[in-house]
Amino acid sequence: MPNDVSRRDFAKLAGLAALGTSSDAAAAKAEERPVTNDILRQFPHDFVWGTATSSYQIEGGAQADGRGPSIWDVFSHAQGNIEDGSNGDVACDHYHRYKDDVRLIKELGCKAYRFSIAWPRLFPDGDGRPNPKGLDFYNRLVDELLANGITPYATLYHWDLPQALQERVGGWRSADTAKAFADYSGYVAEHLTDRVKTVFTVNECGRFIPFGYGLGIDAPGLKLPQAEVNQARHHVALAHGLAVQAIRAKGRAGTRVGMAENITACVPAIDTPENIRAAEIATRELNAGFLNVILEGRYTDAFLAWAGKDAPRFTAEELKTIAAPVDFVGLNIYAPQAYVVASDRAPGFDVLPMPASFPHMSSPWLRIGPETAYWVPRLAAKIWNLKTVYITENGTSSDDQMTPDGKVHDLDRVMYLRNYLGQLQRATAEGVPVKGYFLWSLMDNFEWVFGYRQRFGIYHVDFDTQVRTPKLSASFYRHVIAKNALLV
Ligand code: NOJ
Repeated sequence: MPNDVSRRDFAKLAGLAALGTSSDAAAAKAEERPVTNDILRQFPHDFVWGTATSSYQIEGGAQADGRGPSIWDVFSHAQGNIEDGSNGDVACDHYHRYKDDVRLIKELGCKAYRFSIAWPRLFPDGDGRPNPKGLDFYNRLVDELLANGITPYATLYHWDLPQALQERVGGWRSADTAKAFADYSGYVAEHLTDRVKTVFTVNECGRFIPFGYGLGIDAPGLKLPQAEVNQARHHVALAHGLAVQAIRAKGRAGTRVGMAENITACVPAIDTPENIRAAEIATRELNAGFLNVILEGRYTDAFLAWAGKDAPRFTAEELKTIAAPVDFVGLNIYAPQAYVVASDRAPGFDVLPMPASFPHMSSPWLRIGPETAYWVPRLAAKIWNLKTVYITENGTSSDDQMTPDGKVHDLDRVMYLRNYLGQLQRATAEGVPVKGYFLWSLMDNFEWVFGYRQRFGIYHVDFDTQVRTPKLSASFYRHVIAKNALLV
């Protein structure tokens, strides 16, 4: 008997376990009765359940079939940049194992899969002559998904910029990269939108620009002054707008396009009408540099005043391009970033300091705030009048340990998902137009600067043998998908 459990406690626990057996039987019986919304927390009947990954994090095959180097190849190979000294040369070897991985998605019951296309596979030099073998890989992947009843959702840029563009024009420091991105996007639209109907332009501008160009902790590892960071962000917004135009011009009818952004997640500290209004203002202002300029067609006055002499340089014509209408907005939702209260000072909100004791998951940055999955889509839909929102990423790392009999009981991830999905269901039940959810991630993969130490998958990957094993969270997710609901 464990030391810290008294005999009486133990007897109690044993009694409860017995009770559990009979209540299981009752629950099983109840399930035979027609299910009502009182006992099941249903999602909308056409809700899209998916998982997400990205090219550099899973593919490997770094030199296969003429792929050119990306900024992440160069950055991860430079000593000292990645915590465990690793890189994405092999990663999950998905480039060669994609058929097995599609089977994993199918086993979850997912009807959708969000993956990203590696730009340097298609254009090893960034622009110019395409590499048909690179495109072939995505043709094979898309066909395999469709053959298994899984709808492909493709992201065009998940951070693996062709190194050639970094060297030639300075990457996102130059508007030339935005133009090259538009050409690449048009090429993808021309060749894949007969089968890929949903395209995301850029993933998480809000991360790769400040981290890659300001703090130097993501590729390309630059530490530029704020004015140049703001300019680089402006070029990404421009790239998004130009890509939307190129996809509309070259894509098949019915192709839908939007972005997947790590929106700065604002939550009313206490849900009073004043704080809710303040959280709306904060959502708009704290996302002024990317989402808001795309969805509103202008930089807000407060943003320009705050940036001062560091504000991006832009033309009215560029703003028009940036604001090309999108079909949906994708939101990556992890941690609450700003708990907000109303303020008399313009523009009308204060962000409360985060207590050091605020709980987090195994990644210290991943604070636990399930209500983020309710407030963020609700506020975004309200202020930008959105009709279609996808949660393009949500999930957590966990210190997953495999038991000797080969199981991963990732109870913390199940706890996280159950709570976030509960709040997301609350949003859909109130009519917030969230149409789908992509769990990050299908399987453990290369977690950028943390290498392979932070595991975000619901399938465990043994990186020595490439064996994939479903974790407890995979069973949880399969159950949710099958029921299209959370049990209460
Ligand atoms: C968001 C990024 O898009 C993804 O690449 C990353 O692995 C997850 N966050 C987890 O950090």
